[in-house]
Amino acid sequence: MGTPIYLDYHATTPVDPRVLEAMLPYFTERFGNPASKGHAFGWRAQEAVEAARGHVASLISASSKEIVFTSGATESNNLAIKGVACALKGQGDHVITVVTEHKSVLDSCARLEREGWKVTRLPVEPDGFVNLDVLRASLTDGTVLVSVMAANNEIGVLQPLADIAAIVHERGALLHTDAAQAFGKVPIDVAASGVDLLSLTAHKCYGPKGTGALYLRRQRPRLPIECQIDGGGHEGGLRSGTLNVPGIVGLGACAEIAKRTLPEESVRLAGLRDRLLEGLRAGLDGIRVNGSLERRLPHNLHVSFDGIEGEALLMALGDIAVSTGSACSSGSGAPSHVLQGIGAVADRAGASIRFGLGRWTTDADIDAALERVVTVVRSLRERHPVA
Ligand SMILES: Cc1ncc(COP(=O)(O)O)c(C=O)c1O
Repeated sequence: MGTPIYLDYHATTPVDPRVLEAMLPYFTERFGNPASKGHAFGWRAQEAVEAARGHVASLISASSKEIVFTSGATESNNLAIKGVACALKGQGDHVITVVTEHKSVLDSCARLEREGWKVTRLPVEPDGFVNLDVLRASLTDGTVLVSVMAANNEIGVLQPLADIAAIVHERGALLHTDAAQAFGKVPIDVAASGVDLLSLTAHKCYGPKGTGALYLRRQRPRLPIECQIDGGGHEGGLRSGTLNVPGIVGLGACAEIAKRTLPEESVRLAGLRDRLLEGLRAGLDGIRVNGSLERRLPHNLHVSFDGIEGEALLMALGDIAVSTGSACSSGSGAPSHVLQGIGAVADRAGASIRFGLGRWTTDADIDAALERVVTVVRSLRERHPVA
């Protein structure tokens, strides 16, 4: 087996060396606690945190005051959904989400349901999109929050957030979006899209694991949200706990790099992704793309291969690191809830592969992956034909 080729950038990404370099001093000589207000160690750490906050805000066209640092998108999703529901208890009884969301959104909503909230889980169309008429019809006078992800972590589909926000706001509800996969990969403008809360994470964007943020629109009166971690009142009282300064500096560096490189990088990766698809189509019959190709993350491809089994395919690929589902819930052996959501499970899910390209994916990687996938699929079809 040669050096594995990494095409699983949706699961996580390597830390960019520039990001690591920015982080390193904050483990050692600049180790101060930003909450230490009385000396220079604390001041320096605080300055670094505020600079990072500025970079994160700038990448999504927000203001620094609208960013709360967390431990990642899972925590941000929990804070957004449970925090808003908690603050608006008594003023409403209903939240809306979508069947293809990440587990951290679905399970946060399930907890609210156990506590007496009504939860609507919207279906999606076969191309992965929320049907806006169905959304409109699902909103009630009691709806306080709608949570729809920006980009899907399996099939890469980009939901029309601005259209969704307009519909949600007409009925006086708030819109939260999980942008874990979209942050730093496609342009995000919270002001233009009208999103009220947005979750993001560093480790999908060439930063460290365990650091993320929640964007909260500044409103008058303040956006209703209650903290979910009590303690010293850090982050404006919304997320207590000593700040992960190196991680936050890393997240800031990711955002700063993405701001400069996103336009060029997304074009390059979309080109590689399209070449991968063309190569698969040229080399194999019986392949299908899951989710819309038109409104999709530039570095995502999700393909089903007729006539073979998913596990056999994954085993045979060996040195090509891809995923058959999302890493977050893989290992459960259960069919992907996203593929079920788009109606692709019955005949397709078993032999589907998610390709996630990234900053260090080269032409040679794509050529090698193509050659391998085409050879393996042909051979599996010959040796183990599946009815
Ligand atoms: C869409 C989406 N939301 C949330 C998460 C969770 O992010 P984190 O690992 O930062 O908690 C992930 C990670 O897989 C994801 O893809």
